[in-house]
Amino acid sequence: MTMPVPPVQRSLEPLGTAVPSTVPSHWYNLAADLPEPMPPHLHPGTREPVGPDDLAPLFPQALIAQEVTAERYVEIPQTIREIYAMWRPSPLVRAERLERALGTPARIYYKYEGVSPAGSHKPNTAIAQAYYNAIEGTTTLTTETGAGQWGASLSLAGALLGLDVEVWQVRASYDSKPYRRLQMQVYGGICHSSPSDLTEAGRAILASDPDTTGSLGMAISEAVEAAAKNPKAHYSLGSVLNHVLLHQSVIGQEALVQFAEVESGAPDVIFGCAGGGSNLAGLTFPFLGQNLREGTSTRLVACEPAACPSLTQGEYRYDHGDVAGLTPLMKMHTLGKDFVPPAIHAGGLRYHGMAPMVSHAVNLGLMEAVAVEQTDAFRAGVEFARAEGIIPAPESTHAVAAAIAHARAATTDEVIVLGLSGNGVLDLPAYDEYV
Ligand SMILES: Cc1ncc(COP(=O)(O)O)c(C=O)c1O
Repeated sequence: MTMPVPPVQRSLEPLGTAVPSTVPSHWYNLAADLPEPMPPHLHPGTREPVGPDDLAPLFPQALIAQEVTAERYVEIPQTIREIYAMWRPSPLVRAERLERALGTPARIYYKYEGVSPAGSHKPNTAIAQAYYNAIEGTTTLTTETGAGQWGASLSLAGALLGLDVEVWQVRASYDSKPYRRLQMQVYGGICHSSPSDLTEAGRAILASDPDTTGSLGMAISEAVEAAAKNPKAHYSLGSVLNHVLLHQSVIGQEALVQFAEVESGAPDVIFGCAGGGSNLAGLTFPFLGQNLREGTSTRLVACEPAACPSLTQGEYRYDHGDVAGLTPLMKMHTLGKDFVPPAIHAGGLRYHGMAPMVSHAVNLGLMEAVAVEQTDAFRAGVEFARAEGIIPAPESTHAVAAAIAHARAATTDEVIVLGLSGNGVLDLPAYDEYV
């Protein structure tokens, strides 16, 4: 017999605890420093730029405002900073054992987001999104999840801030990663395999392809539909949108400060894995802002899977964020909304598109992109684990592989920063073929 879990009293008011000054007080918005403004998101019906009213059924006003703001800095509410302080600032670590193992003259640092309670960078935005929804009276959040990291993070945020969370998890991951579903459930989230028969979008997809492995684009359609049908529910997206990238900027802002404490000048190159683009943008955009404002020349490299290569092989054009075409049209690098990526282990990188702001930066030549084969990614993940102890999330191994390849080829003492977006302790079966 299961024991009922007693309800926890939650408040949106700050606790009043002292938050260290090393936890950022503001989010950084790259839009303020871009040499050319980003193309706007368009209404899927009229193809006119979307306005706040178009987005109101899905998002709270505060997040809609953040989506379009041109302000360089947005203040972080104290309640959110207190929660961030549970694990932030995350460490920037010199990977000296990896350097020695590679025999490289380069110095390698990694910014480790796996210290969050959920195990990745995703709570940085989950907490913020849950907070703004809760203060505007939303009681339920719906969302998609690929690897399960995002669903777990939003479930954690729901637990801390008093919201119900319903997650559609891509079938390939749902079947292969039971621990992530259990993690969501421990936090109080409800998790469905996607496509499901709970939504019109899911039923239509199942009717045409009953054996589909699912995709993030399909799961987004289901979660958006469920939110649109429930007046007390809103939808929450784990990546791609400007406000998500904004929240993730805590990563790079901390890294700027931490880097200045141990090195002079700016890093030569930064590698981050890219699914929808949020951890990459979070780490790199503050450094890109520094390039644009102060003339530093840090190279910024997006590392995507060769099996889902939106930046390196996709077209730069307007496309929907989901399969059913329910989301606004966004100008982005895309493989087409109907592209179903192979069931690679890095479930969080199986997305047909890319954040419009990352796409815009790549299009302007401000960032670069490389595609990494799955076998190379996992080999690098194992190498990293054996040198540094941390087992990287399958997504993060793509950045690890690119950084290791770069360090191996280095002939000078250049400085490399690597975004380690999460740990892989709940993804161990993915490593099975590589050990
Ligand atoms: C650990 C980890 N890294 C990276 C990603 C990719 O997402 P994004 O590109 O938005 O950072 C995910 C997505 O689920 C993830 O769980």
